[in-house]
Amino acid sequence: MRRCIFLLVAWIYTARSVPCIPRDFGNNGTVCVCNATYCDSTPELEVPDIGFYVHYTSSKDGLRFSRIDGVFNKELRADSESFRLDFDTTFQPIHGFGGSFSDAATMNIKTLSLDTQENLMRTYFTKEGSNYHFGRVPIGSTDFSTRSYTYDDYEGDVSLEKFCLADEDLLYKIPLMKKALEFNPEIKFFAAAWTAPPWMRTNNNYTGYGFLRNEYYQVYAEYHEKFLNKYEDHGIKMWAITTGNEPFYGMLSITYYNSMGWLPKDVGTWVANNLGPTICESRHNKTLILVYDDSTTGLVSYINETFSNELARKYIAGIAIHGYTDASISENVLDDTHENYPEKFLILTEYSNGSPDADTGIVPLGSWDLGENYILDIIENLQNWVTGWVDWNLALNKYGRPNWRGIYGDSAIIVDPETDEFYKQPKYYAIAHFSRFIPPGSVRIGLTDGLTSVKAVAFKTPKNETVVVMYNAYLTDRNVTIYDSRRGQIWLELPPKSIHTLIYY
Ligand SMILES: *[C@@H]1O[C@H](CO)[C@@H](O)[C@H](O)[C@H]1NC(C)=O
Ligand SMILES: *[C@@H]1O[C@H](CO)[C@@H](O)[C@H](O)[C@H]1NC(C)=O
Ligand SMILES: *[C@@H]1O[C@H](CO)[C@@H](O)[C@H](O)[C@H]1NC(C)=O
Ligand SMILES: *[C@@H]1O[C@H](CO)[C@@H](O)[C@H](O)[C@H]1NC(C)=O
Ligand SMILES: *[C@@H]1O[C@H](CO)[C@@H](O)[C@H](O)[C@H]1NC(C)=O
Ligand SMILES: *[C@@H]1O[C@H](CO)[C@@H](O)[C@H](O)[C@H]1NC(C)=O
Repeated sequence: MRRCIFLLVAWIYTARSVPCIPRDFGNNGTVCVCNATYCDSTPELEVPDIGFYVHYTSSKDGLRFSRIDGVFNKELRADSESFRLDFDTTFQPIHGFGGSFSDAATMNIKTLSLDTQENLMRTYFTKEGSNYHFGRVPIGSTDFSTRSYTYDDYEGDVSLEKFCLADEDLLYKIPLMKKALEFNPEIKFFAAAWTAPPWMRTNNNYTGYGFLRNEYYQVYAEYHEKFLNKYEDHGIKMWAITTGNEPFYGMLSITYYNSMGWLPKDVGTWVANNLGPTICESRHNKTLILVYDDSTTGLVSYINETFSNELARKYIAGIAIHGYTDASISENVLDDTHENYPEKFLILTEYSNGSPDADTGIVPLGSWDLGENYILDIIENLQNWVTGWVDWNLALNKYGRPNWRGIYGDSAIIVDPETDEFYKQPKYYAIAHFSRFIPPGSVRIGLTDGLTSVKAVAFKTPKNETVVVMYNAYLTDRNVTIYDSRRGQIWLELPPKSIHTLIYY
């Protein structure tokens, strides 16, 4: 009887899901097409009673959040790879997943009709979509802007009297951030400056080899406070700020996009003497300070040097990292960093991959390979103490633009203003297989695997649901068994190139 009721409930939920409308652009994978009146979604999950599980699959072959409901088995199965859940071993608590409200992203979203914009924001920020809980926002311009600017480009304005938000904030970023807040009031925003105003820098430029001049350390801290004030005036509070995006680029004389160098000792001094006290004594005393905000090569020594300043270490809550370095490098440095400073959480604040084709100028729409790369990056980070994973531009156009430096990119959602459509790429589903089901406050739990060909990671959510995400990167099926000593076993046959999320009580 109970099973009948359950199957009926499952049927109702399945019936309410809106399927993907696929489109194939010939890049070894498909996108799902959304417009003003249509967008694929799956209803918020009501987890079934003990003894049953829900299994979602997305695959290179075109499955997108395809749902199957199952029952635990009691017998053993011989011919499969096995995973054993270990609820007594717990790792990091999770802060969440999200994407970035860059100038490029928000300008692109605003090229769509209001209804299509609504569908795009809904697909990222509601529980029927990605259930994003994070939004990163640049303080001023980045390379993904149409121009370089800061909020005080007036030489010598040390009192910051002329500090002023830009059109980019008022017309694009803030309205869309408010929209995101409507869909998810619990969303956490955090901000980072790519550079100080040029007049505060040693090379008087937005780019290139340059550092903050000593005499402006306090002014630059107040510049951050002003930014927090202005955004709060618009109803947006920041959960955290970082000490600046990618400090390594400003220490290289060959890179010419918005960036400012921070030597590890100097950033420690700035936090200890200026940024830390300024934020603590302001009305933003709850806003956290994160350090680093760069790729993990060099992470361990950088953090050691910064934290040799005890006061800086006290003010800094967490370590922000980017995902651009080779996987095998990052694993050890993440573990080492966690071991050295277990009280400081690690969070990935930026990753992206892909770029427009050199001949056509168009991004590889639908590429499963780029989605797979996201899946593997997320799993690896989660397996190594990282508490959150935040994608770069929420959206770009099919030329991967705009970027004033001409270094174009790719993103999980691509907008096409000509047709008033947007395309959800495999990367979108890659993140959503985690973000939807692993809310903030979830904790990673132990998962021992007999064989390592299938990648997997497991969590307990605040509601005591168990969530397991798995990826079969192979070109053949893989049979796997998941053992839960309390419930029994789940037997699955994972198709080639497929991602899976299992949820149960
Ligand atoms: C698609 O995959 C095939 C086989 O791996 C490869 O040769 C081809 O270059 C890929 N095409 C694209 C556009 O990625
Ligand atoms: C939106 O997409 C749906 C599903 O593909 C289609 O039926 C509808 O005609 C589209 N609407 C517009 C305005 O293109
Ligand atoms: C900033 O640096 C770029 C790259 O070298 C250069 O083209 C530009 O003229 C510089 N701007 C200023 C104001 O010096
Ligand atoms: C922190 O800021 C709030 C206002 O946002 C203020 O009411 C409170 O007194 C401040 N706390 C401290 C310790 O300064
Ligand atoms: C989750 O389980 C623990 C014991 O394992 C229990 O103490 C707690 O109340 C449960 N939480 C919820 C939300 O059910
Ligand atoms: C997976 O198990 C099924 C039977 O449950 C079997 O037919 C199939 O050959 C197995 N596949 C692999 C790759 O072992």
